[in-house]
Amino acid sequence: MENKTIETKITVCRFEELSSEYQLIINKAKEQVEKSYAPYSNFHVGAALQLGNGEIVTGNNQENAAYPSGLCAERVAMFYANSQYPDVPVKTMAVAAYTKGEFLEEPISPCGACRQALLETEIRFEHDITILLYGTKHVYMIENVKELLPLSFIKESLKG
Ligand code: THU
Repeated sequence: MENKTIETKITVCRFEELSSEYQLIINKAKEQVEKSYAPYSNFHVGAALQLGNGEIVTGNNQENAAYPSGLCAERVAMFYANSQYPDVPVKTMAVAAYTKGEFLEEPISPCGACRQALLETEIRFEHDITILLYGTKHVYMIENVKELLPLSFIKESLKG
């Protein structure tokens, strides 16, 4: 019998310590919370992606009275990017969450389903996606989606 340990590397910093490029993408994600449709949770999430062609694509969470039919901000933004720019890699993703009148102090991290969808894009374009998770106290920076979703199910897994 053998034990294996999987570690995730996260850089924790303050917003002001980030490059102006990363600050801009985070600010785009923050702007998006205003347009989110979250009447059930009142938890507003914004996401912004920087693409390999310089475009910035944004999205926010879209809820539904039939709760599971809604979609997280990350997948709204990612599917939009992939649908409109099917040949362009995604370089960076920023996420910000807002509830009870303020942005969260500590970052939220994408849910499991979003991690799976983000990983597909990372693998598809063979390009790491830097993840920036915004909180007013701390920003978490993660090198790629693989760090967020180790031991993942990918297309090679289907070969058996
Ligand atoms: N949500 C996101 O949009 N992104 C996340 O990373 C976590 C959760 C949304 C889904 C739902 O509309 C609301 O936040 C509460 O879960």
